Amino acid sequence: MRSFKLAAMALAGVAAMSFGANAGTAQQAAGKPATPWHNAALSPEQRAQALLRAMTLEEKAGQVSQQFMFGAFEQFAPVVRSGKVGSLLFVTDPAIINRLQKVAVEEMRLKIPLIFGYDVIHGFRTIFPVPIGNAASWDPASVEQVQQVAAEEARAVGLHWAFSPMVDIARDPRWGRIVEGAGEDPFLGAAMAAAQVRGFQGPAIGTPSHIIAGPKHFAGYAAADGGRDYDSVYIADTQLYNVILPPFAAAVQAGAGNIMSAYMDLNDVPAVANHWLLTDVLRGQMGFQGWVVSDANGTKNQVIQHFARDEADAAVRSIAAGNDMEMSFGPAASAETLAASVRAGKLPQATLDRAVLRILTAKFRMGLFEQPFVDEAAAKTVLADPAHRAVAQRAAERALVLLKNDGDALPLVAGANKRVAVIGAMANSKRDMLGPWAFQYDLPETVTVFEGVRDRLGASATVETAPGVQLKRNVPSMFESITIPGVAKPEPRWDAARAAREFERAVALAKASDLVILTLGEAEDMSGEGASRADLKLPGDQLRLFDAIGALGKKVVVVTMSGRPLELDQVLDRAPAILHAWYGGTRGGTAIARALFGDVNPGGKLPITWPRSVGQVPIYYAHNTTHSPKEQAKRYWDIPSTPQFEFGYGLSYTRFAISEPRITGGPLLPGGRITVSTEVTNTGTRAGDEVVQLYIHQRAGRASRPVRELKGFHRITLQPGERRSVTFDVGENVVRYWNGAVKDWVVDPGTFDVWVGASSNADQHATFVVGGSPRPAKGWK
Ligand code: NOJ
Repeated sequence: MRSFKLAAMALAGVAAMSFGANAGTAQQAAGKPATPWHNAALSPEQRAQALLRAMTLEEKAGQVSQQFMFGAFEQFAPVVRSGKVGSLLFVTDPAIINRLQKVAVEEMRLKIPLIFGYDVIHGFRTIFPVPIGNAASWDPASVEQVQQVAAEEARAVGLHWAFSPMVDIARDPRWGRIVEGAGEDPFLGAAMAAAQVRGFQGPAIGTPSHIIAGPKHFAGYAAADGGRDYDSVYIADTQLYNVILPPFAAAVQAGAGNIMSAYMDLNDVPAVANHWLLTDVLRGQMGFQGWVVSDANGTKNQVIQHFARDEADAAVRSIAAGNDMEMSFGPAASAETLAASVRAGKLPQATLDRAVLRILTAKFRMGLFEQPFVDEAAAKTVLADPAHRAVAQRAAERALVLLKNDGDALPLVAGANKRVAVIGAMANSKRDMLGPWAFQYDLPETVTVFEGVRDRLGASATVETAPGVQLKRNVPSMFESITIPGVAKPEPRWDAARAAREFERAVALAKASDLVILTLGEAEDMSGEGASRADLKLPGDQLRLFDAIGALGKKVVVVTMSGRPLELDQVLDRAPAILHAWYGGTRGGTAIARALFGDVNPGGKLPITWPRSVGQVPIYYAHNTTHSPKEQAKRYWDIPSTPQFEFGYGLSYTRFAISEPRITGGPLLPGGRITVSTEVTNTGTRAGDEVVQLYIHQRAGRASRPVRELKGFHRITLQPGERRSVTFDVGENVVRYWNGAVKDWVVDPGTFDVWVGASSNADQHATFVVGGSPRPAKGWK
């Protein structure tokens, strides 16, 4: 694994290689660049301009087109030769990448290298916790390191670009893709977005062992009607600016080289063809400099959406709106039609040129003209690096959230129970431990909960496992019909007799054991793309299994695994301890076992409000109060309107005391700052982590504002008895918001509440004053 320092030094090396007088091709070595764009003394933008001047309209239309490649080299070499692609996605074999690249840079007229993209979502070979689990760590530095490792592995096989991070703020757990993001909050989401961009890209685009980040899906995709994947989205501008867009703005500020536009209609205009969104907001207001790619078939989908007349119209309308590259299954509409559209006067050539320039500039910045090929032998060493697995284990440990721990049921004492049963559909399922959006994993090296516990206990106990139940898979999912090398297919369905036998076997095992570790939750493919659910109950026969095992009177601790919050009321009523593990990745089982037996102390916090019932959805902590406070006027008569677990919640094996906030400075005036400090003490007997959170609330102003909003957090580790001061900076960026009447960023003077604590229910309170008069605030740039 490379450190940042090493990467930065290597970057300096590459700069010398790319831009030095004698660098590059043989012709350059002789002092004469082969073409103006091979002149490494020019900037990437100048080289792109020079190359653009040599291109035909057809070559330009090919350059803005990207195709999925699920198939053999022989099938795709002709596609490259046809000149109808500038990029391919889903090729991951370095030998095939090199062969396809050879076609591009040796056989094609202008020898323009391809840029290879892939869904590097939560790891490449080493699989990390799913993104919502990474967010639960509340540890941007750890998440940055995770994506740095993912980038190194991806780059080693010849990839240049990740369709990641997904930075959609999601407040509806029915939506399956909630697993791919950082949860419900724009502040936490922005921190995670920026961290991931830094991890993927390193200090600058073109840093060796790094790849371009492509934050997605711009914008609003997570607010799909009814949580139904791909459905329409209606979002007021105030929600867009204050909730949905901040993580994108943070990713752009961190230097993201690419953005993926979203599939759906945003307020009746497909996001892929939304000029206001892709050009006015993304470039004008946020200052984005890279290129925008559509989601898969997003450009052509405008026809399905009854927006574009036909595919030619669709290609014109998306590129004109600012969507530079079309991602496509099969031939792209752009490659097929844009040249003719320019000739027919339906698209200004300058618009096509603008998109081509953005894509070529990225290829030059990545050094692809100097270094189009990848070292096939070196890839194996990088993918096998044990340091990467250590990063995965630490990340999985940091993602764990302790939901319940009555009577300090956890941690367990190793050796205290001689027969241990690890039961449940996910208990010994390697594929489920990896989570969705993982394709290049190594299944044998993936550690399940059972394996983790067995290895942890060694000779001190007999550890056995049984699934007890089988979960119905979410078939067909997007990738079910496609064979991807190495990707596991689900186990065949059990018949009724087998189901009955397995159930009894699991209960009998529990009966013969002193301790049961029961995994409950969802199979990995029950969340992710095309994996929305209409309810949030435990699927299948799991509750019956929980009841049957519970009736035995044994000690039972529950490990939940899912990519979304689930309705856990009956389990919560009866299980003394519940550890939520998301999907931990390659080393997930090791991390869970270490937490269960107290080698590590869980310190993650929920990045999303956990509802009691699906009927409460959407439910989020940063709501406004209208009519009367919730405590005084019920919102439902049949259930409480409060969640099961609030945003930011998570227990520890130790206890912390957090003192009243102390404000220094104020009133907060334009350009000024105040600080909020608190003292945090570990009052328990174990070392542990606390995530100290800061929330604010504007009491009055030109808009009703949320009851509280997260504006700062620090994850700290304290030894027993240790006390530490934690300080938050509050400037105008903390109190500004986008006002729907003014239609701009503003600051309203007045009194603000501030709370510090261990969750969004934090109760240590103070106030501060924002002085001056109502004023405009600085936007994102
Ligand atoms: C569709 C998904 O919406 C997107 O997130 C992904 O990156 C592309 N397909 C490519 O697989």
